[in-house]
Amino acid sequence: MASHQAFSSFLFLVCILQSIGVGYSATFTITNKCTNTIWPGILSNAGTDQLPTTGFALGPGESNTFSVPTSWSGRLWGRTLCSQDSTTGKFTCVTADCGSSAVECAGGGATPPATLAEFTLNGAGGLDFYDVSLVDGYNLPMLVVAEGGTGGNCTTTGCVVDLNAACPSELKVTASDEGVACKSACEAFGDPQYCCSGAYATPDTCKPSSYSQFFKTACPKAYSYAYDDGTSTFTCASANYIITFCPTPSTSVKSSNGQVPGAVDVSASLRNTMPNFVVMAVTVMAAAWRLPPLFDSL
Ligand SMILES: *[C@@H]1O[C@H](CO)[C@@H](O)[C@H](O)[C@H]1NC(C)=O
Repeated sequence: MASHQAFSSFLFLVCILQSIGVGYSATFTITNKCTNTIWPGILSNAGTDQLPTTGFALGPGESNTFSVPTSWSGRLWGRTLCSQDSTTGKFTCVTADCGSSAVECAGGGATPPATLAEFTLNGAGGLDFYDVSLVDGYNLPMLVVAEGGTGGNCTTTGCVVDLNAACPSELKVTASDEGVACKSACEAFGDPQYCCSGAYATPDTCKPSSYSQFFKTACPKAYSYAYDDGTSTFTCASANYIITFCPTPSTSVKSSNGQVPGAVDVSASLRNTMPNFVVMAVTVMAAAWRLPPLFDSL
């Protein structure tokens, strides 16, 4: 029985830590609705807790859900056309490779062009800040749905259009004669006007270009250049996030502003209708109810 009490005390401690906000704050669900396997990559910003994974394979129709630490910030993207070299064993991807030579990115960021989902959880005012960015170019349609959150402008964002075919030829990246990614004008031409660098490093001097407007027209909610904040940053409190690659099988412009029929997430609704300590107290009670017979039988 002593170990049972110790375990109950441990659960109680976990309960207290949870209720004061230590630990995990949200869940991310990454879903692949593309017809091919993709390899999500994750880069945590410096000074933020790491996620349980930095990269993994996701087959068509597959999802991966994990907890994200409080105040996590970082970015997430999808690698495509990856393979492992049979002689060197090196794992590389045609788009958005993270340079690690492995499925886990282990601190490597996406090689542009790559569609990026960017997050800062529990930032200013306790709000989560999130966006989908085409500032480093585009390689995959991506949608971010904030689920069960409140306040701010807690809406769906992303770029669901397939821009690989429509990409202007001077920006287009091809593999086997097929468009697989679309560069930013900054990457393609290195011009400070496009990169918002040098004399153009302020919102007043760096303006949209015809290239950034190509991205903005296709994906009005996504960042199209560095100072596109006003229409591209979204905020939300206490949400869980669903990040979907190729959200619509037949990608259409229409759904870039529309809702995606998401599955009902019971844990999300629980989390947002009850204070944390109530949820945890119920967990402890349930555990205490179940455990004595288990320990008595040992
Ligand atoms: C969302 O809210 C933030 C913070 O108030 C604001 O900076 C941003 O412009 C808003 N985004 C949109 C798309 O309206």
